Amino acid sequence: MKFETVHGITLPKIGFGCWTIGGEATADPSQDERSLAALRSALALGYTHFDTAEYYAAGHSEELLGQAIRQAGLPRQAVFITSKVSPNHLSYDDVLRSCENSLRRLGTDYLDLYLIHWPERHMNLPETFRALNRLVREGKVKHLGVSNFNLKLLQAACALSETPLLTNQVPYSLPDRSYVKNGVLDYCQKNDILLTAYSPVKSRFFKGKKLAEFARQRGVTPFQVGLAWLVHQPRVITIPTSFNPQHQAENLAAAELMLTDDEMAFLNGLAE
Ligand SMILES: NC(=O)c1ccc[n+]([C@@H]2O[C@H](COP(=O)([O-])OP(=O)(O)OC[C@H]3O[C@@H](n4cnc5c(N)ncnc54)[C@H](OP(=O)(O)O)[C@@H]3O)[C@@H](O)[C@H]2O)c1
Repeated sequence: MKFETVHGITLPKIGFGCWTIGGEATADPSQDERSLAALRSALALGYTHFDTAEYYAAGHSEELLGQAIRQAGLPRQAVFITSKVSPNHLSYDDVLRSCENSLRRLGTDYLDLYLIHWPERHMNLPETFRALNRLVREGKVKHLGVSNFNLKLLQAACALSETPLLTNQVPYSLPDRSYVKNGVLDYCQKNDILLTAYSPVKSRFFKGKKLAEFARQRGVTPFQVGLAWLVHQPRVITIPTSFNPQHQAENLAAAELMLTDDEMAFLNGLAE
């Protein structure tokens, strides 16, 4: 596995996304066995960074993740847990309450990383950060970050956080370069902020013929090429989701795939 280190924190280039673990916008306990099996195989394969949110399955994703980690017999420090506060919970009291609820559902006494899931049009960012900074001071959260923040909002968040922001989690993949075009990737790379690429392989683009041919020549899958292209870039990490143990293993292995400058240039051109 390749890693990124910022501000003394080391994270694997490839982690595991928990969207649809436990349901989608609501909990779906009928899928618990399938969700737990996916988490069990991810843990057994060696994933250590898990990305969840209070929004995912209305908190049930956090419950199942906590359960799977305990059942695996892993010490808390063996995993890095990211969770997120929802846009409708950004008032001072709501942030504190949301965090307590996430900790209870996960069955832990701290989150490694806590993100504002999405900016909200009328949010009071200074008030939100007053609560987030308090959570860090109290040790309930180790690090702060944001998600879906444009450059202006990211700069505002950096100024309000008492500790260095660890990440901006945004959509980023071969076919989606919106956060390159808006200047966020460049800002992250220059300021030691991780860009966590979400939805890294969720696109029809990965079924394309030219990418398939490139992948075949390298003896990997198009999805692995997409992940390798992401993690080749400094300060970029990613969190693909898969319920399929073979895909989970392939996604982890993608971090080892080395791409030359010429191959990066070819792939950059492919999606333009
Ligand atoms: N902050 C935000 O607003 C936000 C928004 C969206 C997502 N996220 C986070 O990012 C994570 C990943 O994003 P995502 O779930 O939208 O998309 P994704 O991980 O790019 O795509 C998931 C889909 O790709 C398939 N897949 C994964 N690896 C594959 C492989 N090696 N070969 C073939 N198919 C593969 C999966 O199917 P199989 O199960 O069949 O493998 C699944 O259908 C989420 O779980 C969540 O944690 C955050």
